[in-house]
Amino acid sequence: MEFRNCVENRRSIRSFRPDPVRREDILYCLDAARLSPSSLNCQPWRFVVLDDPQLKNRAASYISNPLLKSNLHARQAPVLIAVVSDLSENPNPLYRTAVKKFGMYQYDLGAAVQTLCLAAADLGLGSCIMSTIRNKKQLQDLLGIPQGQEICLVVALGYPDGDPAASRERLSLEEICCFNPGIPAERPDDPSHS
Ligand SMILES: Cc1cc2nc3c(=O)[nH]c(=O)nc-3n(C[C@H](O)[C@H](O)[C@H](O)COP(=O)(O)O)c2cc1C
Repeated sequence: MEFRNCVENRRSIRSFRPDPVRREDILYCLDAARLSPSSLNCQPWRFVVLDDPQLKNRAASYISNPLLKSNLHARQAPVLIAVVSDLSENPNPLYRTAVKKFGMYQYDLGAAVQTLCLAAADLGLGSCIMSTIRNKKQLQDLLGIPQGQEICLVVALGYPDGDPAASRERLSLEEICCFNPGIPAERPDDPSHS
């Protein structure tokens, strides 16, 4: 798929068909994520894929919150991918300050997860990044996440059930960027732009 189409087709999908996702397709997405940039190239991401239905459903029960009705789609998605930060030691002396203290690893994980979701869109798969996890401790225990690692996000993956809502609210280019301070961006096709 063309890059622009992947960007436009990627939506947060919260309704999934039960069809399984081929491991080869999951690995395609993870291999793309692996190529993402990271501070000091420390690649602090680890991914735990849950495609065994029983294990996946147990994990989903620690993510969803039925009372708050949050992330109920975690149960419906055929695949969950726990995105884990690994902050174990690194030989680079800048690492402790830049990556750990200033939390650069969070940007790294964000970049990797976006690449994963774009790769999923490339295959016609739907994804939803989830940061709201009802009981992270129980989820970590279930997945055997070792000391020094932490689940930061979970990505739900699967084939979308129906089309996501058509409109997607976004700030306009003019609202979010400028060329040199004070000069708002104008699209070349903007009729007010002469
Ligand atoms: C860091 C991050 C955390 C998010 N956490 C959740 C979440 O816990 N549950 C959820 O349903 N969506 C979550 N989202 C998805 C956003 O709600 C969604 O990206 C936003 O509404 C824009 O919609 P779109 O992804 O369809 O373009 C998260 C997105 C990001 C980037």
